[in-house]
Formats: sequence, structure tokens, C-alpha cells
Amino acid sequence: MKEDIVESLKGIVGEDWVIDSEELVKSYLEDETAPGPKPQPVYDVVVVKPANAQEVSEILKLANREKIPVYVRGGATGLVGGCVPMKSGIVLSMERMKEIEVDRENLMAVVGAGVTLGELLQAAEKADLFFPAHPGDEGAQVGGLIACNAGGARAVKTGVMRNYVTGIEVVLPTGEILNIGGKLVKDNISAGKLMHLFIGTEGILGVITKAVIRLFPRFKATATMIVPFNDRHSALNTVPKILQRGIIPLGLEYVERGPIETSAKYLGLEWPCKEGEAFLIIILAEFNEEALYGELEEISSICQENGSLEPLLAETSKEQETILKIRSEIYTALKPDMYDILDVCVPPAYIGKLLDEIDKIAEKYGVVMPVYGHAGDGNVHAHIMLEEGWTREQYEKLREEVYKAAIKLGGVITGEHGIGEIRKKDLHLNLSEEEIELLRKLKKTLDPNSILNPGKVIP
Ligand code: LAC
Ligand code: ZN
Repeated sequence: MKEDIVESLKGIVGEDWVIDSEELVKSYLEDETAPGPKPQPVYDVVVVKPANAQEVSEILKLANREKIPVYVRGGATGLVGGCVPMKSGIVLSMERMKEIEVDRENLMAVVGAGVTLGELLQAAEKADLFFPAHPGDEGAQVGGLIACNAGGARAVKTGVMRNYVTGIEVVLPTGEILNIGGKLVKDNISAGKLMHLFIGTEGILGVITKAVIRLFPRFKATATMIVPFNDRHSALNTVPKILQRGIIPLGLEYVERGPIETSAKYLGLEWPCKEGEAFLIIILAEFNEEALYGELEEISSICQENGSLEPLLAETSKEQETILKIRSEIYTALKPDMYDILDVCVPPAYIGKLLDEIDKIAEKYGVVMPVYGHAGDGNVHAHIMLEEGWTREQYEKLREEVYKAAIKLGGVITGEHGIGEIRKKDLHLNLSEEEIELLRKLKKTLDPNSILNPGKVIP
């Protein structure tokens, strides 16, 4: 990186907030992408840590003038290489933007992009409120969660990240600072017309620096029920029956004995169910115990009608947190033996059909594919594990078959992890050439010199 650029960056954010030694830059280059498709970053980057939107704006104006690539970096918990620098440029780390202001009266919080999911959950709890979503790793940062429209384990009742955002402060690649939306539940002016352009486009159109996020009053009655089944088929086919009966849990997850025990062991914990091979984890949250117990009874009877074994009920918050923790760490626990994690999504009632197709594909290739995921959302993580003597082509062929099985059921190749760097070549499986061209036009309009996360998302 040219010395005068580094000096100009120091002039914007202050000397302490610019890192350009190769040794120190190393820890700002990677994300959590699985070993197989993990992209190789470039090392010739300068890391800059702005304090606010004004500084982000000045950095982007400089980058735009000098045509320097800028890679925005949140918690780096992404799984598709979205924040990994592929060209020499600037890594824009959002970690200093930590403002959190909870507005109890309006049930919202104004949150800086660098606030982590863990910090947001805690701030809400401290104000006796609740952030219902659990979009992944608690080290993920709000800016990234919004840019990537993260999903996670508690999206059945209250939706994915997009559903919580009522306003954003965003800096365009050419440096303009926009304040879109506000503390409004209904806003058909700015939020309705502009805000959603920046949510889920994975940071290619602007840098989100702040957001207004909806919180909920704390649910007074919560429980997590684990329902064991002897086989995958019965467990998954029970999921739509629960939803169709009108019970909408906060989360409805599916796990199998192998992966969940690997995760428990990795954490030094124990999976509490002795019986069963396939499990539904049902997270319930209601405003009183009567409603909660009514739901528990009804779910138990639906599950029993569909061949479940005896459910296990966790009611203390510690027990419930442990179950969510074991569930959330499966990916990390399996990662060393994995080629890739997929996150295809189908209409929720077809989850059983999708898994039947995945079983057939696994059999055809003679492999075991561990599966778990957000069953209530139709969104599953099927894993391609490392196989002795396999070539890259073999892994990629297997992956494409899973993608096509999901698409045949009306699904998409990614329901939550996004496109980033590693799935660009597969975007055409879901989007037509005209749709991809429209994305290119949007990018060109907002980022004429293609400086912001260049080469990401759009093939
Ligand atoms: C999960 C991540 C991998 O659901 O999306 O655990
Ligand atoms: Zn997931």
C-alpha cells in the first residue's frame, strides 16, 4: 500500500487506528468459511478503524478518488468469504462503532455497526427487553448482520434480520451519508423505498454504520423442548404439522445425534437426550405460562402422533442456553473434517422431501452428509465432509446436485449465509441473466468505480 495513502488514512482516523504491518494485518484477513472453498486473501492491505460515519465517508471519498478497493469487516463470522480482501486495498474494520442506546418506550435500540450480537442481546436484557433473533455467532456485528440479512435459530416467529430494522445510517461508496428510516414501525417513504436496498446485498452498495433495531418486551414464559425421534423422516415431517396447527415457536431446529454429540463433546458438555437419533429443538416464548403450557401440550401430542419418543423439557434459562449453545457450535465442531457447509432453503413444508433427496444424493456418492438446521424455516445445513482421495470436481458436483434438488422444490441455494466470494459462480442457478444484469446496474449506479467489496456477490 502506497505510503501517501497510509498517511492520508492516518490523517482521517488518527495514527492509532491504522494498521499496516504485515504481521498485525494477518488477523484481519479471514472469515469462518469452510476449508474447501475458503478463499486465499491478499496480504497487501491496510486496516483502518473509523469511529463514525463521517470518517467512513472521508475514507470512501479517498478510496473512490484513488480507485482503491475497500473491504468492510464486521465480526468476520461469515461463511462465504464476503469480507476477505482479494485485491490490495483497505480493510475497513467497524469494531469501534459501539454506540448502543436502548429506547424502552418505543421498544427499539439505536445501535452502532460494530456492536456484537452478544452485546445487543445483553443490552436488551439489561433494559428488561429482548432481541428475539439469534442470527448466528454472538461475535457477529450488527452492521454485518444487517448487510447480510442474517437468519439463524430464532427466526420462525419474528423473522430474519431484515424484519427488525426500521432505520439505517449508510455511507455510499462515493462518500454521501444517508439517514434512512427511523423509529417507525410503518414507513413507506424512506425505509419502504430505499432501506431494503442495503439489507441483504452483502455490503456491495454501501457501508452501514448505524441502525435502528426493534426490540420486544421480555417474554415472561419460555421453554425449550427437545423431541427425540428414531429417524430423520418422522422428525422432519412433523415440522410442518406443528406450524400448520397454528403454533409458531420462536425457533424450530433440527439436529441429529452424531453432529450434536460432536458439538457437546467439543464444548465439554453433554447432550441431554439418551434416546433417539433425530431431534427437534423447539424454542417457545410466550407472555404467560398458561399459553406456554398449552403450546407444549399440543406440540407433544402432534409429535407423539408422528412417532416421537418422550420429549425433554428445559425451563431454566441456564438449561435453555446450554441447549442453544450446543446447537450453535455444531459448525465449529465439525469444521476440521468438512469440505463445505450448505444452507439451501425450500418452502417450509418441503423440508422432508428435501432431506429425502439429500439422502439419495449421499447414497449415490457413497458418503455420509451430516445435516442439521432451521427446520421451521425450511433452511438446512447439509455438510460435505472431507473424503479420502476426492478431487475438487467431485465435491463441487455433489454440491451442485444438492443445490439443484433444493431449486427443484422451489428453493434457493442460500437461505442465510449469502453469496459473498465463494458462491458467485452459482448465482445463475437462482437468478436469470436479466436479474444478475439488474444487480450489475445497481452496483454501477451506486459505486461507479467499483471500490466497495469489489468482485463480491455479483459474478
Ligand atoms: C448454524 C450456522 C452454521 O446454523 O448457520 O449453525
Ligand atoms: Zn444456520
